[in-house]
Amino acid sequence: MIARVAILTDDPGWHGARLREALANRGVSSEWVSLRQCRLELAMGAAGVVMPGFEELPDGVFVRGVPGGTLEQVVFYLNILHGLQKLGVCVYNDGRAIERSVDKGMTSFLLYCSGIPTPASWVLEEGEALQSLLGRELKDGQELVLKPLFGSQGKGLLRISDPSGLPAADHYNGVYYLQRFIDTGDSPHDWRVFVVGGRARVAMRRSGTGWISNRAQGGCCYPAVLDAELRELAERSAAILGLNYAGVDILRDRSGQAYVIEVNSIPAWKGLQAVSPIDVAAMLVDDFLDHCPSRGAIEAVG
Ligand SMILES: Nc1ncnc2c1ncn2[C@@H]1O[C@H](COP(=O)(O)OP(=O)(O)OP(=O)(O)O)[C@@H](O)[C@H]1O
Ligand SMILES: [Mg+2]
Repeated sequence: MIARVAILTDDPGWHGARLREALANRGVSSEWVSLRQCRLELAMGAAGVVMPGFEELPDGVFVRGVPGGTLEQVVFYLNILHGLQKLGVCVYNDGRAIERSVDKGMTSFLLYCSGIPTPASWVLEEGEALQSLLGRELKDGQELVLKPLFGSQGKGLLRISDPSGLPAADHYNGVYYLQRFIDTGDSPHDWRVFVVGGRARVAMRRSGTGWISNRAQGGCCYPAVLDAELRELAERSAAILGLNYAGVDILRDRSGQAYVIEVNSIPAWKGLQAVSPIDVAAMLVDDFLDHCPSRGAIEAVG
């Protein structure tokens, strides 16, 4: 059994408390740690990664948050995760999988290349190709959605219906991520499917006051039937990105065609918990402990 676990989060809140409680119910002690407080220490005798509150590195790390910041900061936080894995600490979700999914461009690329239906998307800088794309796509009432490459919670999303509506590139750190707008009907909505241990477990329907359905943007959550199509798309998407658990966002257009728009490696589940009878934190902790045997157990087996 794991004796010591770090829950990586800047702001434990409701989710941090649920995880700690679920771990304690399984007899596992845990501490909340911010990635901002961790460091690489590469001097004689040091373990390589230093995590405050842990004299020895923990057996497992549950990643509940990767802080935003400059590119250097985000790379540094991801390197802490990679370093921990290299040192034999079980990191959940896997550090490389988190790295792939924090980047919307790479997520879309991997989904597209694996044949998952995902809206037509482009990642590019300013220039002629951008202008001709806008001219081509913004015809006949068709629109594009502009998203920050490293965004989350529906922040910074913009609907573009006219080339003049595109903000200057520096507002988006120099790179445009543009995606065809999918019309989901008169009452815009999306589906969030929660995958744990590679299996789709539960789904909800989200609907907001506008076209952005995230709960953080005022969207409401409703229970939803996890039908075969949602299940298959969500499970395949999580597997393509190498995620143990994931929140997969799916849209259906007016004709019913489904599109995977996003795969989250650190999904919140407060809204989902409110409309689902399943104890989500307990389910996550069970899967985490299955994946992360204690280092003592590994040594005993080895
Ligand atoms: N191409 C699109 N067409 C129509 N609506 C969209 C499209 N992309 C996003 N949306 C709406 O905006 C919401 C947020 O988009 P998305 O999931 O891509 O970003 P995010 O939620 O900010 O990122 P993350 O899911 O990583 O937290 C979606 O749930 C959906 O309601
Ligand atoms: Mg989303």
